[in-house]
Amino acid sequence: MHWPQRTHGCGELRADHAGTEVVLNAWVHRIRDLGGLFFVDLRDRTGIVQALFDPAVVKGLESLKNESCVAVSGKVSMREDNAQNKDMATGQIEVLAASLQVLGPSAPLPFPVSDEAQMKKVNEELRVKHRYLDLRRPSMLRRLQIRAAATSKIRRWLDDRGFLEIETPIFTRSTPEGARDYLVPYRLEPGKFYALPQSPQQYKQLLMAAGVERYYQIAKCFRDESQRADRQPEFTQLDLEMSFVTQEDILQLMEGLVRGVVNELIDEFGIEREPIEPFARLTYDDALRLYGSDKPDLRFGLPIFDFTEAVALSSFGVFQSAVEAGGVVRGVRYPGGGGLSRKEIGELEEAAKSGGARGLATIALESEHQHSENAVNLGRHWLRSSIAKFLTAEEADAIVTAAEAEPGDLICIAAAAESVVSASLGRVRLEVGRRAGLMDPRKLACAYVVDFPLVEWSEEEQRWDPSHHPFTMPKVEDLEFLESDPGRVRADCYDLVCNGVEWASGSIRIHRPDIQARIFSLIGIDEETQRERFGHMLDAFRFGAPPHGGMAPGLDRMVMFLTGDENIREVIAFPKLGGGLDPMMGAPAAVDEAQLKELGLALRAPAEEPGS
Ligand code: AMO
Repeated sequence: MHWPQRTHGCGELRADHAGTEVVLNAWVHRIRDLGGLFFVDLRDRTGIVQALFDPAVVKGLESLKNESCVAVSGKVSMREDNAQNKDMATGQIEVLAASLQVLGPSAPLPFPVSDEAQMKKVNEELRVKHRYLDLRRPSMLRRLQIRAAATSKIRRWLDDRGFLEIETPIFTRSTPEGARDYLVPYRLEPGKFYALPQSPQQYKQLLMAAGVERYYQIAKCFRDESQRADRQPEFTQLDLEMSFVTQEDILQLMEGLVRGVVNELIDEFGIEREPIEPFARLTYDDALRLYGSDKPDLRFGLPIFDFTEAVALSSFGVFQSAVEAGGVVRGVRYPGGGGLSRKEIGELEEAAKSGGARGLATIALESEHQHSENAVNLGRHWLRSSIAKFLTAEEADAIVTAAEAEPGDLICIAAAAESVVSASLGRVRLEVGRRAGLMDPRKLACAYVVDFPLVEWSEEEQRWDPSHHPFTMPKVEDLEFLESDPGRVRADCYDLVCNGVEWASGSIRIHRPDIQARIFSLIGIDEETQRERFGHMLDAFRFGAPPHGGMAPGLDRMVMFLTGDENIREVIAFPKLGGGLDPMMGAPAAVDEAQLKELGLALRAPAEEPGS
């Protein structure tokens, strides 16, 4: 096929080009038929320009359809002053078209590609089914561009610092990161399967054993886990690992990388975000105690405060019994929340209950000079609360002082076991932040959470599970408790969180076979299984493995924050829908009997009980 080759990009044309003959290869973005003249917006990757077609000069305009692919030649001309469009980069000019060749006509569209407002209402499945059309939208192209710029900057940043980019296999064995594996049957030995990597964790450690010292990869990971707005079954990590480093080295490197790359992107793409400030740091214990979460949203303060001691002897039974049972009494301040309706307070209470608390006590602090009829005077304070009658003036003062509350504020209180209070008030705090408008979308409040526990007790499985993954190094000073009191062992393990979302995880790794074997035993992997599943790791550590550690931010998640999207799908070219479905490719799909036979597989009837 022959067509006139483009001389310019649509979005490049400016007043300087007036009088120039141009050829554009583009898509028909929008057509307006204005009494005999056709105004056609032409779009390519560089942007949009208006072309003016006179049906007396150019034939076939009546049948021209939106999203057809065309070659247009013509001359750039200044628009009349009153026809100029200041909102468009090419708004001062237009192209007076001399010829039109349709390179690929478009059938009727499943959705209005050029209408951003309408596109917001289009069903997600339809968009993903016709993703090649969805991606034509300038807003989607911009997402791809931001993502591509992110990976290119990351590569440059790490290449400049001596990191080697190395690809690791996709067909591998299970690499546990806490999700189910995706399996690929092995044709030559029916009954055997490859697992797709949940992360390149083991390979990157083996690369350290191999003496690579500084590795990275923009790595595809695969996890069969329940989907959420920020989770996809296949996603991309910036995976990195270094030898001869301390935790501090890794934290500093990653902060430099994330701030460097993200702040440059904010600048280059004119993204409405403030540059990321130096990261805050807090321990896992403090994060839970102060914010009720290991991924605190630090765009706002309002830490959880404690006044357990002050109410230990309270005549309010709920406080007293919580303290007697070894629990705590804590609160969160809601600035200006004193005027909340009963219904709104009920909603806060629901947030507390979703964290496990049985209820939420509230105290509205009023002013001495302007208090409501129901307010009660206790010492220096005027309070409106159903628990006021149980409190002494000293107790009320201790609560108000610990809360640093002002008249007009609401104090939300939970009393129970510490873990329940944390989870509950953590949720109340987020609800307060949301309602009080404290979650500024322009802010990216990044923090490192450090000193995670090594393992967590799984009630369901009745065993210790790694908090991160089994290759994480326990803190040396806690090693002695590994067998006697595993719950108190902390690890050299850290997360990077931003605005209440985990962006990255990492740790210093075990590089000694004896410690690795102890961890495997602790999490219930017997010696035989250790050899069978992880013998290569244990062996690699026997041949002079260096101390090493690393980290892996989720690339999709970080990009999502830059594009301001609520769903991770928006920043992935070809995402999966709920249930891992790809309606465009029709994946997953049934395979024919012959293929199954070749793989030595037979399907069970769905109703059949597993194992029967
Ligand atoms: P982890 O499992 O915490 O650590 O994953 C690291 C980061 O990857 C991102 N992420 C996801 N993004 C989208 N969809 C998912 N389903 C998904 N799961 C995880 C998150 C997360 O913080 N090997 C270790 C890292 C290390 O120790 O170096 C690991 O994979 O942003």
